[in-house]
Amino acid sequence: MIKIINLTKRYGKLLALDNLNLEISPGEIFGFLGPNGAGKTTTVKLLCGLLKPSQGQAIVGGIDIQQHPEEAKKIIGLVPDFPFVYKKLSGQEFLQFIGDLYGVTGEDMASKIPNYLEMFELTPWANELIENYSRGMQQKLVMASVLLHEPKVIVLDEPLVGLDPKGARVMKEIFVNLSKKGTTIFMCTHTLEIAERMCNRIGIIQNGRLTNIGTTDELRQQVKEGGNLEDIFLQLTGGSEYADLLKYLE
Ligand SMILES: Nc1ncnc2c1ncn2[C@@H]1O[C@H](COP(=O)(O)OP(=O)(O)O)[C@@H](O)[C@H]1O
Ligand SMILES: [Mg+2]
Repeated sequence: MIKIINLTKRYGKLLALDNLNLEISPGEIFGFLGPNGAGKTTTVKLLCGLLKPSQGQAIVGGIDIQQHPEEAKKIIGLVPDFPFVYKKLSGQEFLQFIGDLYGVTGEDMASKIPNYLEMFELTPWANELIENYSRGMQQKLVMASVLLHEPKVIVLDEPLVGLDPKGARVMKEIFVNLSKKGTTIFMCTHTLEIAERMCNRIGIIQNGRLTNIGTTDELRQQVKEGGNLEDIFLQLTGGSEYADLLKYLE
C-alpha cells in the first residue's frame, strides 16, 4: 500500500533523508521512530506530497504522489505534527469544510460528523469557535476530519502530543480498529509504550537513515540488554548515555 523507493531529501547542504526504502502492506500499522531532527516529518511530507523529493519516489496505493498528486491525496489522510485548523470556524463548520474538500456527500456528512464529534468527545464544543479549543481538542478535531473521507492510508505525525490519557487511548483504539478493516497506518511517535502495543512493525531513523526495521521482538534481538521498546530504542539510538548530561545540574 505504501512503497518508498530511494527517497532522498536535501535542504541545501543538509541531507535530511538519505535513500529511504520501505514497503508497508495493507492493514499494517507501521511505527516510525527516531530522535528529534532525524527526518520523520520530512518523510511524512514527502509521502503526502507536501514536499518534492531530491531523488526517489513515494507510491501510495499504486499511485506515484509526484506524478498524480490529486489522485494519491484522495486516498491519504494526514494528521500533521501541528494541528492546522481555521480558528474562526466552529468544529462543526471545519468538519463540513474538510468533508466538502474531499467530496464527501451531504448525506454521508450528516451521519458521520455527529458520530465523530461524539467519539472524540467534542459534541459540547461543536458550535464553539476553534480558537477556543485547547491544543488537544484541535488535534482531536483534525483526527475526526481525516476520518471523514475514509482514507486507505492514514499518516500520523506525533498524533499523541497534547492528548489527555483518555484521548490517547481512544485514538489508539480507533486506529487499531481501522487497521483491522484494512486501513494502512504510518505513524511517527515518541510515545513508545503505545507504539509497542499498536504497531506491527517499527522503523528507526537516525540522521536521515533508516537504521533498524522489524517487529519489537526482532529489534530486541539487535540489542544487548533487551527490555521494552523504550529500552530497545534508547540502546539503538545511543540515547541510553544520558547520565553524562546530569553533570550540568551540578
Ligand atoms: N524546511 C526546512 N529547511 C531546512 N532544514 C529543514 C527543513 N525542515 C527540516 N529541516 C531539517 O531537516 C532535519 C530533519 O527534520 P525533520 O524531518 O523535521 O525531523 P523529525 O521530524 O524527525 O524531528 C532536521 O535537521 C531539520 O532541522
Ligand atoms: Mg517531526
